[in-house]
Amino acid sequence: MDKLLITGGNPLNGEIRISGAKNAALPILAATLLADTPSYISNVPHLRDITTMVSLLGRMGVEFIVDEKLNIEANSSNVHTFNAPYEMVKTMRASILVLGPLIARFGKAHVSLPGGCAIGARPVNLHIQGLRAMGADIQVEEGYITAQAKRLHGATLCMDIVTVTGTENLMMAATLAEGVTLIENAAREPEVIDLANCLNSMGAHIEGAGTGTIRIEGVEKLSGTHYSVLPDRIETGTYLVAAAMTGGKVKVKKTDAGLLDAVLLKLLEAGATITRGDDWIELDMQGRRPRAVDIHTSPYPAFPTDMQAQLTAMNTIASGVGMLTETVFENRFMHISELQRMGANIRLEGNTAIINGVESLQAAPVMATDLRASAGLVLAGLVANGETLVDRIYHIDRGYERIEEKLTQLGAQICRSH
Ligand code: UD1
Repeated sequence: MDKLLITGGNPLNGEIRISGAKNAALPILAATLLADTPSYISNVPHLRDITTMVSLLGRMGVEFIVDEKLNIEANSSNVHTFNAPYEMVKTMRASILVLGPLIARFGKAHVSLPGGCAIGARPVNLHIQGLRAMGADIQVEEGYITAQAKRLHGATLCMDIVTVTGTENLMMAATLAEGVTLIENAAREPEVIDLANCLNSMGAHIEGAGTGTIRIEGVEKLSGTHYSVLPDRIETGTYLVAAAMTGGKVKVKKTDAGLLDAVLLKLLEAGATITRGDDWIELDMQGRRPRAVDIHTSPYPAFPTDMQAQLTAMNTIASGVGMLTETVFENRFMHISELQRMGANIRLEGNTAIINGVESLQAAPVMATDLRASAGLVLAGLVANGETLVDRIYHIDRGYERIEEKLTQLGAQICRSH
């Protein structure tokens, strides 16, 4: 199993390019199921989750041509299988994103329930409830969702909880439904907007993406498109936090500063100097130690749960005390016991972590438990005294493209061992 070996202590300096957003590319690839002619998707990140989605769609009969830059041509005109088996869904929960497109275009789907994961129970009841309200006949048996529908019809869906993939699944389903669908209390994440823009370029009629109410007027059919995925705001934020923690100066390019206001505000509060242009952000820490910051995770535009582990890592070596409250997932603190093994002073009270910054961390062998927790551990390794070995980094490969190459480019001492 691959591991990352990190020798801490180098301030990060230099420039890197940010990849396309995993959480936009995944629904966009699923959306190609809705079109009856080929789609061309560019700026797709080179990640394990993308490979999983491509294999899942490939099993269904979607034909792919992928060039060396990972521009993907997806042709869904010969789809013959409507299943997402447990073996695939268990490795990537976002596989649930095929459910809406399959029912909407083909009238049937047999998709494994994702079940729990390291960060919590993560049910999909709201996806199912919404599809039922649109006329799908859905049975949940033996761990699978089996759905049928002649043609979905529009409905007013009021979401009990803000759910990102739930909003995306229902928005995709509604594009081919008869009549108008309103999704109220919709997720406002930039990736939802990117998916809506892509669907509109395929011929869908979606308004209001990025607000709490999305209106979708169903159309008879969608056609292929050319679409470039938006930059990854979580990857962007992770490298900026790495710069802040190491006292360095890093410019991230091919990104969009407008996507991460809440994160940039926290980094300013931590003492960083931030300059930004149309598609770049530069963070300069001028060798200073960051100040501890308080964080409260919530759906967009508030502070993202996917940046919580990275800010936890920053607070462990910051001056002062930081309070970090996780409100989106109930068990997203798996990195804390690993950080404690590196000398971090953290107390957990319910869903709040109280972090007393220490002068330095000590290297230790640590174990990645989920994607973003792993990122937090890599960041901790960059500032720890000695050699940190991060095990189970297949989690990190799900969501960070060539992390060791990008960090090496910035002057970190990091290598992959097999
Ligand atoms: C997406 C992101 C993930 C991010 C999360 C929150 C993708 C592929 N993944 O995950 O990186 O951490 O948003 O920003 O985009 N819930 C229910 N019932 C449902 C659906 C969700 O109770 O039917 C709950 C969840 O358990 C969780 C909360 O709603 O507590 C938010 O989860 P959700 O937004 O659905 O997360 P994902 O879409 O799975």
